[in-house]
This record gives sequence, C-alpha cells and structure tokens, in this order.
Amino acid sequence: GKVAVLLGGNSAEREVSLKSGNAVLKALQNAGVDAFAFDPAEQNLAELRTLDVTRVFIALHGRGGEDGTVQGALQYLGLPYTGSGVLGSALAMDKVRCKHLFQSAGLSTSPYRVVDAQQAHDVEAIISELGAVMVKPSHEGSSIGMSKASSAEELQAALEEAFKYDSQVLVERWITGREFTVAMLGADVLPVIEMTTPRGFYDYQAKYQSTTTEYHCPAALTPEQTTHLQHLAKQAFDLVGASGWGRVDAMQDQNGQFYLLEVNTVPGMTEKSLVPMAAKATGLTFEQLVIRILEQTL
Ligand code: DAL
Ligand code: MG
Repeated sequence: GKVAVLLGGNSAEREVSLKSGNAVLKALQNAGVDAFAFDPAEQNLAELRTLDVTRVFIALHGRGGEDGTVQGALQYLGLPYTGSGVLGSALAMDKVRCKHLFQSAGLSTSPYRVVDAQQAHDVEAIISELGAVMVKPSHEGSSIGMSKASSAEELQAALEEAFKYDSQVLVERWITGREFTVAMLGADVLPVIEMTTPRGFYDYQAKYQSTTTEYHCPAALTPEQTTHLQHLAKQAFDLVGASGWGRVDAMQDQNGQFYLLEVNTVPGMTEKSLVPMAAKATGLTFEQLVIRILEQTL
C-alpha cells in the first residue's frame, strides 16, 4: 500500500504545511516509500479509502489538521496516521486548556489571564497584575496573531489583533530570557535547541524568513538544566496525551527558572525547522527521521 502525506489544509499555517509536507514527501520517496501528496483543502479525505493507502503521514499545521479533526476522520476511515491521537491533538492545539493543565499538574508555566471576545475585559487591570505580556490566540501556531504588550493601550491593540484569529485569547506574563525547544520522537527526548533572534521574540519572520535567527543544538545549558528541561517537556507532552512525535517549547527567565509555553503535535518539518535539527544532533538524517515518525503509526 501507499503512504499519503497530508499537507496544505485551510489553516493560517497552510504555507508552512506545504513546505513541511513537500519535504516529508521527498524524503519518503528518496527512502523508497511509495508516497503521494494529498491536500484536504482540495480533496475529500474519504477518497483516501479508494487510493490503496495503508498509512497517513500528517504534515498539516494548525486548525483543521493538527487539532484532532483530521485524526478523528482518519480513525473513522480506519487509516493509521502519524503522531498524536484525537485527544492529544485537540488539547495541544488549545493553549488556554494547556495552561490550565500545566498549572493544575504543578508544571512551571508563567502566570496568565484568559480573555474572551464576548466578555468585558479590563486591560488596565491585566497590565497592572501581570506587567508586560505576550498575547496569543488560543488555537494558532507559528506565532500567528501574537504580539507583546507593555501598556494598557498596547494590550488593547494586541487583543484586537489576536481576536482576528480566535475568540479566545491567552495573555501570559512576558518572560525576559532565553527560548528553547525540546523535540520528542517516540519515547525519546531529543537534544535541547536554543533559538536566538534580534527581533522581540521568535515570531513568524524569525521562524521562516529571517537570516538573523540563530540555533544552538545542543543548547548551552548545564547537564542538570538540560535534564530538568527535558523532563519538564516530556511531562507536558505526556500530560496533554501527545504521542508519536512532537515538540515542546519553553523559556528560561534570568533567574534560571524554566516555563512551559506549549506542545506542538505536528511541528514544522521545513528545512529551517527544529525537530530535524534536533534529530540531526543525534545522528539521524531527515530521511531517517521521517521514517522513524512513520514507524510510530504501527
Ligand atoms: N506550528 C509550527 C509548524 C511549529 O510548531 O513548528
Ligand atoms: Mg505551536
């Protein structure tokens, strides 16, 4: 049978997904796998049943692809797929519920408020409580719709921007410090990567366009800090019910304290992406990584 690589889709991260999916497709084909691309924005997923598909590689990012909906449809169609199941996918795509979970499990994450488009909110009160904040649509990826706010006026503008993408918005205390990510592959926790950017934070441009973003893998942390961060990331991954592969983002403040940001169940697989970089540090080529992810469907 064949492997269908799902790519594109309708989310705000469509362009990133096309890059991820095409890189995955090429790697599978180079490895001798009979694979083809399938864009659910253009075709009905049920057609996979007629195309002699035995496994599906999900390279869709964002809503409608990474959030459990496609996973549920594939499960219904009886097609094995890569990565997390319905619950883990749906939870990881919901930043607000992830924060609630992290907090209730005692996993370190920065203080936050949830702002609903439908409900009144007091920007002055939020800023005086949290100080500078990062404002995030609850269900987006690749930093889409996110901005920093240091005053009530900026928060108002940041909320309006985030509400373009989502009716629920997460407002987190801004962390001044270093940004890290930890990739998961099967039961393995891969080496930590640190990202640095001269931009305000690791935003869409720093992720995909900028030439000034720097990556350090393995990150310059003490062995104790590395182990601590890897453990924290793994706990978050398991807590939301993620499986197969993924990536957990975190920060470290100037006192050395780590804070969980979020779990990504279909992380980017573009040539600039982080999971391939972490895999490379363990000696895995991009092709070997893709095959390892595919094996997690078994
Ligand atoms: N949401 C993007 C694709 C990532 O996490 O890599
Ligand atoms: Mg994300």
